[in-house]
Amino acid sequence: MTEPSDVGAGAGGGVPPGAGGPAVPPGAGGPAVPPGAHLLVCGGAGFIGSCYVRDVLGRRDGTRITVLDKLTYAGNRANLTPVEGDPEQAARFAFVQGDIADPAAVDPLVAAADAVVDFAAESHVDRSILDPSAFLVTGVIGVRVLLEAVRRQTDLARAGERHDADGRSMGAPRFLQVSTDEVYGSVEEGSSREGDPLAPRSPYAAAKAAGDLLVGAYRATHDLDVVITRGANTYGPYQHPEKLIPLVATNAIDEEPIPLYGDGLQRRDWLHVADHAAAIDLALRHGAPGGVYNVPGGTERANRDVVAGILARLGRPWSLVRSVPDRPGHDRRYAMDGGRIAALGWRPRVLFEAGLAATVDWYRDNEAWWRAVRDSAWDAYYARQYGDRLAASTEAERPA
Ligand code: NAD
Ligand code: DAU
Repeated sequence: MTEPSDVGAGAGGGVPPGAGGPAVPPGAGGPAVPPGAHLLVCGGAGFIGSCYVRDVLGRRDGTRITVLDKLTYAGNRANLTPVEGDPEQAARFAFVQGDIADPAAVDPLVAAADAVVDFAAESHVDRSILDPSAFLVTGVIGVRVLLEAVRRQTDLARAGERHDADGRSMGAPRFLQVSTDEVYGSVEEGSSREGDPLAPRSPYAAAKAAGDLLVGAYRATHDLDVVITRGANTYGPYQHPEKLIPLVATNAIDEEPIPLYGDGLQRRDWLHVADHAAAIDLALRHGAPGGVYNVPGGTERANRDVVAGILARLGRPWSLVRSVPDRPGHDRRYAMDGGRIAALGWRPRVLFEAGLAATVDWYRDNEAWWRAVRDSAWDAYYARQYGDRLAASTEAERPA
């Protein structure tokens, strides 16, 4: 494999803009992680992680998955029901409730895995503004605990002393860190490339950037087999209703006020969750050691237009939308260049308008799922996050 030295070589990924180039062309050599491998998926009960688990096990190619998930407010065993209810998939699946920041939970699971895919994180920017503590514990200490476990297993493999339960020799585990476009900060013009400096602007994004830097440090120091993906704003079924698209859909279903931050002209690049999961799996199997891969959606939209699209699908009026005081430090725009992941053979398949309609329909048809998530803890969060804002809200300007 070629070595793009993306992580472990400098600030934002080491490679200056335009340098480095795509990692491994499709079909060059065998996959680093073949079908039938045993994957440890951290955070696999969350939105994107559970899609990854459902999709990979649904291929029925012999892959085994162990999920390690703390089951925070955002983790939900119900997201894995399709897997656990299918005998063939359930036989290749195990669930462990535990914390990636706890070496006692992590070490034996990494010891048994061919690769580790880390989705685990506190993922909501607004909550990181209210209290960043858990973001840092999971995003910094947790990532370090995973990397230390991978380092020990790598050392054993290099010494020829890594074996599975049947005594068969095992190679060093590959580690994939699921990161985000938010590490590049607000991008007023153009698009971020993998070698750009990291410039996070929220506590959430800072914790994610710290995780990326740690991964790079373990690459440089210990020569671990690591890969980073940086995905765009992801949407689809099973997303916690704290995020924009499900929040708007569920509030609109209930004909409740819809909080739109500031002027609603912030821009996000939307990526369907199935496309995101597919890109992560491709990078896991075919990405170069040390490679960083942006995963853009290719569909940039202003928030106001996304909200209008959801209301139109549900037949609800714009008058529900309230302009509320803006998120502090609100990033105006994210955009990434996706040339590298495209060179591995990935393209987004879900067109945004069709994906948004299907997602809104999923929330309309799966009320039991999201009403269970909107429990008393949700009510307390909602009051803290939106109570004063909605009280201070004004009529939101309609999109043209
Ligand atoms: P999510 O909040 O839905 O799920 C996170 C999962 O991690 C939950 O199941 C939670 O229980 C688990 N978790 C949290 N802390 C843990 C810990 N200490 N130990 C073990 N498990 C823990 O998040 P998501 O939207 O599915 O995002 C998954 C990953 O993708 C995150 O790393 C996030 O930063 C990244 N990402 C998300 C998006 C997006 O738009 N949602 C886009 C790009 C990247
Ligand atoms: O870009 C990738 C990131 O996308 C991920 O790394 C994060 O985990 C994920 O939460 C998401 O972050 P955002 O802050 O972009 O997503 P969120 O759904 O919170 O907000 C999307 C946009 O909508 C943002 O501009 C803020 C705005 N918004 C959000 C909420 C919840 C509102 O106007 N009103 C709201 O009530």
